[in-house]
Amino acid sequence: DSHSSSRGAAEMRPDGLIFIGKEEDIKKSGRITAKINGREIVVFYHEGKFHALDSRCYHEGGPLCRGEIEDINGQACIVCPWHKFKITLETGEGLYEGINPLEPSPTPQWQSKGVKQRIHKLTIDNGSIYVCPPDLSVSFDSDYFAEKYKNGGELAM
Ligand code: FES
Repeated sequence: DSHSSSRGAAEMRPDGLIFIGKEEDIKKSGRITAKINGREIVVFYHEGKFHALDSRCYHEGGPLCRGEIEDINGQACIVCPWHKFKITLETGEGLYEGINPLEPSPTPQWQSKGVKQRIHKLTIDNGSIYVCPPDLSVSFDSDYFAEKYKNGGELAM
């Protein structure tokens, strides 16, 4: 019977929080990916704030860790490198530009499809960043790809 942790496994504290990295390192690089229970997440540092999301896009599993951050209507969004879907860093909402055909001269407006990408709760403690294990009793569209690319999935970049 083996209770030894495998090499590269996430470091879990007694309170369940999982160590992701040093605050300073993530500030410098702007983003890092990490595995929590085999699930790939990405942590961004943007305009003074940290955000953790599933790293595989809810649309078809594109690598959000390789996307650009754009400001849309005052909301910082990650733009998926595969088909340019926009996801808010703060809430994981998918944004789309929609028009109301009933308006006399319809102009596209950014609208939310709701929360599509799972956001992970971050804790900063003593210069280190931790996340909580995901609450899987609530599901999000990105769960499908998080599961699909679990423990691997270095391909499809
Ligand atoms: Fe992200 Fe299609 S996979 S936009």
